[in-house]
Amino acid sequence: MSSSQQRSDPEDRFGRVLVSRAQIARRITELAGDLAQRFGSSELTVVPVMTGALMFVGDLVRQLPIRMQIEPVSVSSYPGQSVRSQGCVFRLPPPDDLRGRSVLIVDDILDSGKTLAFLRAAIRSVGAEDVQSCVLLRKERPDVPDRPDADYVGFDIPDEFVIGYGLDYDGAYRNLPNIRVLAKELRGPA
Ligand code: IMP
Ligand code: MG
Repeated sequence: MSSSQQRSDPEDRFGRVLVSRAQIARRITELAGDLAQRFGSSELTVVPVMTGALMFVGDLVRQLPIRMQIEPVSVSSYPGQSVRSQGCVFRLPPPDDLRGRSVLIVDDILDSGKTLAFLRAAIRSVGAEDVQSCVLLRKERPDVPDRPDADYVGFDIPDEFVIGYGLDYDGAYRNLPNIRVLAKELRGPA
């Protein structure tokens, strides 16, 4: 095999790598350290936002030595091939009683912030006492000045549509191990 063949990654056809799997792994270790300090010995309810947070929450909670429940939710905001939020609706709602609980919302990416605002309100409305949020990626969105912010952030990224490590485009590419900027050729007309 020639050296150029060794260097080429067949997954590059999906788009260039923005955050590598090694960078993700290192940052998750740091985040887990911060979260373990924040929550100490208190019992936690982790609320991953499916399906995007699937890989992230799995890697994160395995580094959190805290007694916890995991209560996934699903929020639909990107039907089909659209790349901007169209508003939120629960496909899988949170538990209807979180009275007195410490809750950690875990999501793949903060974009417009609508998902986070929607979830925080829903979780507070069922009695959670302490609601924190952790996102792997925070997209630069200067056009949304009053965006709600996450308490814990893995990486700040430019305003690009990204796929991989749980993030999808039209349901695909979640299983790519690196986070990539979706190649223009793969983007639909929406
Ligand atoms: P927000 O409500 O606009 O903050 O969007 C948050 C949700 O939109 C995330 O949970 C993702 O599911 C999805 N999303 C936003 N940006 C991207 C992206 O670049 N790639 C894939 N999904 C995204
Ligand atoms: Mg999502």
